[in-house]
Amino acid sequence: YQPLQILGIYRIGIIGGSGLDDPSKQIFQPRNIIKREDAKNDFGLPSSHLYVGSISGVEVVLLSRHGPGHKISPTGINYRANLEAFRNLGCTHVLASTACGSLAENITKGQLVIPNDFIDRTIHRKNTFYDNTSEYYEGVRHIPMFPAFDCKTMDLIEQAAQNLGISVMKGATVVTIEGPRFSSRAESNMFRQWGGHLINMTTCPEVYLAKEAGLLYASIAIATDYDCWKESEDNVCVSDVLAIFKQNVEKVTSLLIKSVELIGQEDWTQSITNAKNLVKNSNVTH
Ligand code: ADE
Repeated sequence: YQPLQILGIYRIGIIGGSGLDDPSKQIFQPRNIIKREDAKNDFGLPSSHLYVGSISGVEVVLLSRHGPGHKISPTGINYRANLEAFRNLGCTHVLASTACGSLAENITKGQLVIPNDFIDRTIHRKNTFYDNTSEYYEGVRHIPMFPAFDCKTMDLIEQAAQNLGISVMKGATVVTIEGPRFSSRAESNMFRQWGGHLINMTTCPEVYLAKEAGLLYASIAIATDYDCWKESEDNVCVSDVLAIFKQNVEKVTSLLIKSVELIGQEDWTQSITNAKNLVKNSNVTH
């Protein structure tokens, strides 16, 4: 699959988060299923099988972040193996869906948001490809994190939402906590003071590992709760998160599908070159 990139053909990896555990049920009938075991790479096993198919003529690979039946915890997810599996299949882009708590008054339940920045509070995860696990990733790299997400991909998601008449907010800072517990009220208020707009357990390290792998990454977040800072609202609980996601899963799915269509109409040569050069120029090993 690797030469696809050279031909200027794009392939988009889609990561289904909580509530989109079996993305191939919602998104397409896969043409090909690559078993987890067969997608094993230098970093180990991805979370689920990889479902290969196409949307509006654009090649797409689907993956479930927590695996079937949501058996993998946020800490236990092999983020590196997931992204490396995409890269090995020639993916150029990653679109990720994520259920988030809202840390902002104006981000109401069910609102879709395209994050543009993050605050990383994770502590127990592999946070780089460049640790001599794989020969492909050599040297020590210090990758700049502004902009954290791919701006052109974010713009196209916004455009896709406009085309569909779906309300979406672009530009939000997502705080990723280690979990599995939710935040205390004091933490939740602190994250608000820090400038966080959303809170989840998976954007980090996914977003910056994607950057290390030269993949163009953007995320569609859905606000499912107000965490526990807002006194007039119920505290976050799992059943509410899943219920709100379920109510909005069709909206998220149609936005993913439209975004793929629009991404497929663009020329990405420069973006892909820039992403790869950023990684190349971030090597300090000599
Ligand atoms: N995912 C959905 N809601 C969340 C919250 N309040 N905190 C962390 N992760 C979440």
